[in-house]
Amino acid sequence: MLIPRHIGPKYGNRVTVKQIARYLNGPGNGTAKPRSRLAFAFDIDGVLLRGKNPLPAAKEALSILDGNNKLGLKIPFILLTNGGGVSEEERCRKLSSQLGVQIHPDQFIQSHTVLKSIVHNYVDVPVLVLGGQGDTLRRVAEGYGFRKAYTTLDVLNWNPSIWPFHNLTQEERASVRPADFSKIQFGAIFVFHDPRNWALDTQIMCDVIQGIIGGSHETNHTRKPVDLVFCNPDLIWQSDFEAPRMGQGAFRVAFQAVFQSLTGSTYPYIQFGKPTEATYNFAEIMLKHRLQGVPKSSLYMVGDNPESDIAGANTAGWKSILVHTGVYDLHRGPPSHQPTHQAEDVAEAVRWALEQEFC
Ligand code: G3P
Ligand code: MG
Repeated sequence: MLIPRHIGPKYGNRVTVKQIARYLNGPGNGTAKPRSRLAFAFDIDGVLLRGKNPLPAAKEALSILDGNNKLGLKIPFILLTNGGGVSEEERCRKLSSQLGVQIHPDQFIQSHTVLKSIVHNYVDVPVLVLGGQGDTLRRVAEGYGFRKAYTTLDVLNWNPSIWPFHNLTQEERASVRPADFSKIQFGAIFVFHDPRNWALDTQIMCDVIQGIIGGSHETNHTRKPVDLVFCNPDLIWQSDFEAPRMGQGAFRVAFQAVFQSLTGSTYPYIQFGKPTEATYNFAEIMLKHRLQGVPKSSLYMVGDNPESDIAGANTAGWKSILVHTGVYDLHRGPPSHQPTHQAEDVAEAVRWALEQEFC
């Protein structure tokens, strides 16, 4: 019988499940199911999925957490991803069918979920929402409480000469919301998810920031600067292609290079997403009830990207496990941020963490 490290001395070597239950749950009849002393935060791309396909170890790992372990313990977990592009509810439905385990929105955080914590500053402010397909992210933004959310396709529909190199497809035309952008002064630009048309989006971001769209000669020198918010800093991420792909962070670098060439300086911005403290703090608050009082020191972040998953977890005081199924390539030397442990895949990571807490 696995004897949790901190129980053995108290009860000698012969302990019963009842004694463990009493220890984990405190006095009382001891029949209550033992509560977990550890919890997991899983990254998605490169840990549970490669593109749309579940990694073989993912189902094994989730089954161990679902009670398929020596203590028969259900171990709480959350999913913390820099991905996005659809609503939390829709993504959880998809993940549940891909992973074969029910994923509930209250255990799921994606790159733009944290915007729920700042939407109160922008409820009636016109904002430009970037990324994803068509107007999907306008609807996500409205779901968060943004009442005046527009897309770059809306702007192009208003005046096609803004970017003569893209004609709206029928599908895009069906998603636009007509508006007169000569009368709309944007207060902020939110890059929710990876833009599909970098050139169009870069052009319109530069125009909005410089007051070419929405501003006028009279108002531009008194106008409040436009806030610029990015939700995912990843330069690269692991999809189902053999080599990592450019992420939203690469788009930010490209945008800033163009903006600097046009204006002589880069534009100040707010960054959310792993490894930012804002996202890890938001995760801790959002998921407190799921984690059932598990201390940070027993919260294990399992990720494939040292720059985002490991760096963020280390700063947050969580444990961090780097797996070799994604962005991090063993052959390129030590990781840029030192994890608590490295593991071949997510199942090996889960087994190792259980041993730390129960052996
Ligand atoms: O676009 C998503 C990508 O940047 C990384 O996603 O799940 O590995 O944090 P994830
Ligand atoms: Mg990843």
